[in-house]
Amino acid sequence: MSTPWWRDAVVYQIYPRSFADSNGDGIGDLAGITSRLDYLADLGVDALWLSPIFTSPMRDFGYDVADYCAIDPVFGSDADFDDLVAGCHERGLRLLLDWVPNHTSDRHPWFLESRSSRDDPKRDWYVWKDARSDGSPPNNWNAMFKQVPAWTHDEATDQSYLHLFLAEQPDLNWANPAVEEAMHATLRYWLDRGVDGFRADVVNLIGKGTDVDDLPDPFWRFPLLATDRPFGHELLRRIRALLDSYDHEPMMVGEVYLLRDGESASYLGDLDRPELHLSFDFRPLHSAWEIEPMHAALSKMESDFAEPRWPTFVLSNHDRPRHRTRYGTDARARAAAALALTARGTPFLYAGEELGLEDAVVPDERIVDPDGRDGCRAPIPWTAAGDDETGHGWPSRPWLPFPANAATHGADVQLDDPASMHTLYRALLALRRDHAVLRRGSIEFTDPAGALLRFDRRLDEEAVVVLANFSDEPIPWPTDLRAADMLLSTIPGERTVGAALQPSEAVVLRQMRSK
Ligand code: NOJ
Ligand code: CA
Repeated sequence: MSTPWWRDAVVYQIYPRSFADSNGDGIGDLAGITSRLDYLADLGVDALWLSPIFTSPMRDFGYDVADYCAIDPVFGSDADFDDLVAGCHERGLRLLLDWVPNHTSDRHPWFLESRSSRDDPKRDWYVWKDARSDGSPPNNWNAMFKQVPAWTHDEATDQSYLHLFLAEQPDLNWANPAVEEAMHATLRYWLDRGVDGFRADVVNLIGKGTDVDDLPDPFWRFPLLATDRPFGHELLRRIRALLDSYDHEPMMVGEVYLLRDGESASYLGDLDRPELHLSFDFRPLHSAWEIEPMHAALSKMESDFAEPRWPTFVLSNHDRPRHRTRYGTDARARAAAALALTARGTPFLYAGEELGLEDAVVPDERIVDPDGRDGCRAPIPWTAAGDDETGHGWPSRPWLPFPANAATHGADVQLDDPASMHTLYRALLALRRDHAVLRRGSIEFTDPAGALLRFDRRLDEEAVVVLANFSDEPIPWPTDLRAADMLLSTIPGERTVGAALQPSEAVVLRQMRSK
């Protein structure tokens, strides 16, 4: 069997509102993305994942969908979408869309119908329950944002509906086969229009069913664990069958926000009963830049996703502060990039990490996200020229302020700078392309001694060693690697094998191997 494309790929996540604006309304759009495809192809990524572009009232910036089969006008037209698909495919880039199966917008026609009366044929498309006899919500679950009850009472029919996120994001009832069928149709719609797969939003939550018992924990009442049920796996097996019925190998990566051992990986299913192709493991994303927790997170991920499973590697996304901000220095962000792009698994880059962007500092009056995630969603500075509010290659003032380091980390000044973050990412992506061992080789972590992280990749005669210094002190060069070849160091400039590893330096070495 040939290697599926998504095992060899590096995926690049675009937050469309903040990528590139083609018409000067301050909001990034599809034509903006199309205009930057050469930049992305030159960087060397293989696939793009767009955060939601469907019709939405934008209470959760697209994660509240009012029509799964239409582009929101703020992002452009159907023709713009077709141009984007064609532009991607011409350059050998695949395109993934963000599919939001757990909930719709409260403006979705399905929900408008559902809430209209208890007898409406779509009533059971959502989860409606009576209040308890004392008038309190049907159970003690809290919603994800703002720690409010996960139920909103609707006067019109005197029942409450479930929403694990905002009240404007009612949960679909996947226990109803009509919902499953309608949602399958949305997948087919985009596959028929040429997309290469999906990132599936909080996909484990769709298996929650409708028997909604109280949760025991009085402090943390978001029902993640209560929703981790066999039914979710059954649903995913049917989704997988749908994807597998297409010849172009569409891929689905699931956002499974379960952090305990084995949980996320379980959503890949088994060889004979497959579910997701990929399932995010966010333990490294939640780890500090410290040797012990990072080594623990990576080795747990590796054991959970051992063959025939396959892991991902995520340093940043649109929900968490960027890793450049979390880790605090360029040098650490550079070392982290080296790990993400040389470890076993499919790396997911978040647009702008290749520029070393920090989060924006967003003043209170400009915060628009219900969960305060605005900082990591700042617009991409295509040029260094500009201030916090304007310029940077944007035709008008964008919807959010620019990243804190936009003036020094604009794309234009990085493109030809051998010491830039962008040059490092290009080099790492080229290395990964040129050395099959980095994509397909085995991986073995060494138990850390001090602050040195080490893993070895092997494939046939090829052997590569990756070292990262997690401390702010030099570390002596490992004696067994004196004869290795230097493929890459994250410290710019000349680098010789054998000299101590600099603070926050990572290196990629090729080891001579006797057969
Ligand atoms: C996870 C998404 O990544 C996040 O941005 C969104 O707010 C929630 N799911 C709800 O859809
Ligand atoms: Ca625009």
